[in-house]
Amino acid sequence: MSTHEVPTADQLSGGRGLFGPQPEPSATAVDDSQPLISLSHIHKIYQMGDVEIHALHGISLEIHRGEFVSIMGASGSGKSTTMNILGCLDRPTRGHYFLEDQDVSKLSKDELADIRNRKIGFVFQGFNLLSRTSALENVELPMLYLGVKTHERLARAKEALELVGLGERLHNMPNQLSGGQQQRVAIARALVNQPTIILADEPTGNLDSRTSVEVMGVFQYLNREHGITIALVTHEPDIAQFSKRIVIFKDGRIKKDELVFNQRSAADELERLPVPLEDDEEDEE
Ligand SMILES: Nc1ncnc2c1ncn2[C@@H]1O[C@H](COP(=O)(O)OP(=O)(O)O)[C@@H](O)[C@H]1O
Ligand SMILES: [Mg+2]
Repeated sequence: MSTHEVPTADQLSGGRGLFGPQPEPSATAVDDSQPLISLSHIHKIYQMGDVEIHALHGISLEIHRGEFVSIMGASGSGKSTTMNILGCLDRPTRGHYFLEDQDVSKLSKDELADIRNRKIGFVFQGFNLLSRTSALENVELPMLYLGVKTHERLARAKEALELVGLGERLHNMPNQLSGGQQQRVAIARALVNQPTIILADEPTGNLDSRTSVEVMGVFQYLNREHGITIALVTHEPDIAQFSKRIVIFKDGRIKKDELVFNQRSAADELERLPVPLEDDEEDEE
């Protein structure tokens, strides 16, 4: 498959083992029983010497299984602080965070690290791949921490890479991959422990517009076909339009929370976009 295509459902029937049977289309609809994530009156106060910075002023937010949420807002509005709390990288100063019914707001650092490894998949703006390490090994890494056996690690890493359309690139080093491909490796790494939610902070921030559509196509595919729950931060309204819901922050509060009516479809748009002149097969010399 060309490196510019977003994987389609038929190309990637590879989700069987890792993600179980693909849900019926109706099953990918948002589940409105118990929320997967519930932030209740969350405050975050950073202490900088004598100065207190009140970054979050009582945020309440619920995310259900199968949602695809964009978080937007001006710089300094509290998006990353919220993502850090959601990702169990930091604790709220006040308020409660329920992750699949467990109150994680008061857990110790070690307990949080354990929850993080098992339940959260992270994707960052700068990809954060290990440079002298193949795509496959990068994706194996989160499983090493959980003590998954070599054979299973390999199988799951391969399957996750196939799922993001990189089945032919298992042994490429990051510098032999385009930016969009590197971000897909990062998405595969985020997926491989079957997390409860994938959190992405500006995942298209370093990518050109076509590549951004490709990466958003991978997220849409994972959300639609595999029911994977995604929350991502973006500055770009165009990018948020690929998700199903947009939450807008202002000054540490939620200013707006609404469903996306004209959701963009990355797969449709890529079909209409001209194929780039230069194919990024850098590794073929
Ligand atoms: N580690 C920190 N220490 C002190 N202040 C912080 C820290 N992280 C963020 N802040 C402050 O908290 C507020 C919210 O920041 P942040 O969540 O990073 O916003 P955003 O991601 O929307 O740009 C800002 O005023 C920022 O300066
Ligand atoms: Mg930020």
